[in-house]
Amino acid sequence: MDDLIAPSILSADFARLGEEVEAVLAAGADLVHFDVMDNHYVPNLTIGPMVCKALRDYGITAPIDVHLMVKPVDRIIPDFAEAGADYITFHPEASEHIDRSLQLIRDCGCKSGLVFNPATPLHHLDYVMDKVDMILIMSVNPGFGGQRFIPSALDKLREARRRIDESGLDIRLEIDGGVKVDNIRAIAEAGADTFVAGSAIFGADDYAAVIRAMREEIAA
Ligand code: DX5
Ligand code: ZN
Repeated sequence: MDDLIAPSILSADFARLGEEVEAVLAAGADLVHFDVMDNHYVPNLTIGPMVCKALRDYGITAPIDVHLMVKPVDRIIPDFAEAGADYITFHPEASEHIDRSLQLIRDCGCKSGLVFNPATPLHHLDYVMDKVDMILIMSVNPGFGGQRFIPSALDKLREARRRIDESGLDIRLEIDGGVKVDNIRAIAEAGADTFVAGSAIFGADDYAAVIRAMREEIAA
């Protein structure tokens, strides 16, 4: 599977969001990581379906990877599908009926995924591997950009990689939180193929240079 770089727009300049997304795509990004926070499931408040639609109306055609940090999840899923989301992922703790929420995402025409907080075990996957298109391992506690990578995420990536390979299914393995040029090689070696990075990319002056350096590390 191709390695994908997914800048988290949480660290972009929200006052110039369309330009920022255009710039990061021109700099070589593959996927737009779109962090949705509700000040309930996580202690922060960000953006919703209207902003996703605004990016589509602005002319952004790259895949949008919607990371839901909201509770409940089901009501907002169709809205994001209509707003132009490609992937929609959610946290198992935030859904009363995980299987139903995964199915709802696919029924809406999107790719589905489950997100695992640092202390959340992977057993939520046991009976739904055939219903996920992406597994997202959090390497920080969700809610804020710019936090430090939690090293135990590497073991969890290895375990998730083993599960994906054993399943024989076409499932992306994404990492989110504290990803930098200097740790992305170890993250790739642990099995990730989709790399979210917020502050590392948007905090730099030259987005293309950071993305290029990340790809070199992954390939090394
Ligand atoms: C955290 C978000 C992340 C965040 C990553 O809750 O899910 O996507 O923006 O930011 P960095 O890369 O700065 O840790
Ligand atoms: Zn995220």
